[in-house]
Amino acid sequence: MLVLQDIQKTFHLNTPNEQPLFKSFNFNVQEGEFVVVLGSNGSGKSTLLNLIDGQLAVDHGKILFNDQEMTHLPSFRRAQNISRVYQDPSLGTSPQLSIVQNMSLALNKGKPYNLKQGVDLVSRTHIASILTQLNMGLEEKLDVKVAYLSGGQRQALSLLMAVVSHPKLLLLDEHTAALDPKTSQHIMHLTQHLIRQFKITTLMITHQIQDALAYGDRCIMLHEGHVVLDVCAEAKQRLQPNELLAHFHSLSL
Ligand SMILES: Nc1ncnc2c1ncn2[C@@H]1O[C@H](COP(=O)(O)OP(=O)(O)OP(=O)(O)O)[C@@H](O)[C@H]1O
Ligand SMILES: [Mg+2]
Repeated sequence: MLVLQDIQKTFHLNTPNEQPLFKSFNFNVQEGEFVVVLGSNGSGKSTLLNLIDGQLAVDHGKILFNDQEMTHLPSFRRAQNISRVYQDPSLGTSPQLSIVQNMSLALNKGKPYNLKQGVDLVSRTHIASILTQLNMGLEEKLDVKVAYLSGGQRQALSLLMAVVSHPKLLLLDEHTAALDPKTSQHIMHLTQHLIRQFKITTLMITHQIQDALAYGDRCIMLHEGHVVLDVCAEAKQRLQPNELLAHFHSLSL
């Protein structure tokens, strides 16, 4: 479904601070795969997602999506197929709008009149029923401004908003990193549930070794812009946390 071919990306090109990150980088994701992305700080994980969703342009190489080249498509065009959730809970929602207004925007993403002000009774009921699966009581707070929600509630809402428009690809950039351990686990369960329900191909960056082993059906590790480990579901099941940690340590030597 997603093919990155011979990708090259250098920051601060032709300056004294020139920093090559990806050199002849190749990476494929199959339709329906849930890929967990590990790697130390600065290894290129977020940049990889930025190149995929078009926030950054590649210097060289091709990006194909369902056999169509999207290398030069602007990010708003890619957003028709791709949704993203960030580490910062404030990035995925509009704080000054209510829960129901945020959900309405998400449900109408890509449709011509998606800035519709009024939310009618039918869609309020529909939105409330979708919110119940978060199991956080947000369906009781439809008219509360998102600014008044906790980080965990906002992140759950961001996740739901990212999937209700049925994207083909979901990009999660450490989306549980700012949450307490219990909320983080709740969001991870929710992530798995929503990905399966909406059948969305997913790339999830995490620093949590336990989550990398427990979730997803493939795990890759990035280091200095290279894939240094790529294991499928069965191999992942046999991996022990200390083996993955040993990989990290061997790379930083
Ligand atoms: N827009 C940018 N301009 C210049 N340099 C950048 C830019 N984005 C990333 N970099 C550099 O590229 C390298 C990889 O950054 P990236 O954000 O992809 O790392 P990461 O693997 O996501 O790290 P972390 O785990 O800390 O989030 C870093 O050295 C970073 O400084
Ligand atoms: Mg990052």
